[in-house]
Amino acid sequence: AAAEKGGWSSFMAKEVSEEPDAVANTLRGRIRDGQVVIPELDGLDELFAGISRIIVIACGTAAYAGQVGKYAIEQWTRIPVDVELAHEFRYRDPVIGPDTLVVSISQSGETMDTLMAVKYARERGAKTLSICNTQGATIPRESDAIVYTHAGPEVAVASTKAFVAQITALYLMGLHIGRIRGSVAAADAAEHVRELEAIPGKIAQILEREQPRIEQFASWMADTRSVLFLGRHVGYPIALEGALKLKELAYIHAEGFAAGELKHGPIALIEPGQPVFVIVPSPRKSAEMHKKVISSIEEIRARGARVIAIAEEGDAAVLPKADEVLRIPLADPFFEPLLAVVPLHIFAMGLATAKGLDVDQPRNLAKSVTVE
Ligand code: G6P
Repeated sequence: AAAEKGGWSSFMAKEVSEEPDAVANTLRGRIRDGQVVIPELDGLDELFAGISRIIVIACGTAAYAGQVGKYAIEQWTRIPVDVELAHEFRYRDPVIGPDTLVVSISQSGETMDTLMAVKYARERGAKTLSICNTQGATIPRESDAIVYTHAGPEVAVASTKAFVAQITALYLMGLHIGRIRGSVAAADAAEHVRELEAIPGKIAQILEREQPRIEQFASWMADTRSVLFLGRHVGYPIALEGALKLKELAYIHAEGFAAGELKHGPIALIEPGQPVFVIVPSPRKSAEMHKKVISSIEEIRARGARVIAIAEEGDAAVLPKADEVLRIPLADPFFEPLLAVVPLHIFAMGLATAKGLDVDQPRNLAKSVTVE
């Protein structure tokens, strides 16, 4: 097993280090002359032209990838997108039919809850597309179309590199459908493609520049009993993912909230010393949201919260507001989640390691849950 880890202390450490490759390999072969063309989807133009609704179904981390993807896919395709937990989906008689595209996301391709939801959607006449990391798995075999993520085998139980690959695949799918439907201008699509192609290098920068600091900082927090995560827009599902990772790996109570929801309840949780991670939108690209998130930070800090901000390089406004600032390179808002999640994966792994826990095999969890 030591050899398989290739010198890393755990599979998870190895897999987090492979996040840049997971994105790069998922993009490979799917960009032609600056436009997204997914060869596996050849011949399905009519299917994509005929849909009026997209429902993304998944469980766990894959469902958060779906929530991230929703913003961009809706924007680029102008098709309404809903994201649902697979195990909730089929127990409520959802309104679906031949004009519905049900997109399932699963690293393993074997999650029973997701598989049953896909079968259910098919029986109801919906079109199905599987985003999957495992060649030939059951869920892709049960689907009309497949877009594989190429994150490589993921061994650690909690998903990391597959998550960034899933978001990448959703973006590719959104741009592919947008091109077919003419809902995204070629020049805009080309710009998005350039942004996507720059992401692996930017993730590598975070790993190189921030990982040691985040790990040290996580080890200081080994006794923490609760951590909150706040995000807005695409940062919201990243807050949920940050909280999930911390629960899974470090067994710490953690919750993610939409920053705008703070005043409607969660702010009551804030007491002196409470650590809160805040994903800060870009002041250049999302000035209005940036201002709102900064004011959320002010509100919780005034109540004694310890704020750890994840903010883009050069965001000077955040510095005096936060106790710690973790920097991510500049990116367009849709792509920022692919960067903002990296410090959160490192943090959860670092904290669990500091507690002496097995990050590859957390208690009570299975890599692939093949029962309902
Ligand atoms: C399990 C794993 C999670 C994963 C979820 C979905 O619960 O512990 O890390 O996110 O299943 O798995 P899938 O293979 O469908 O992506």
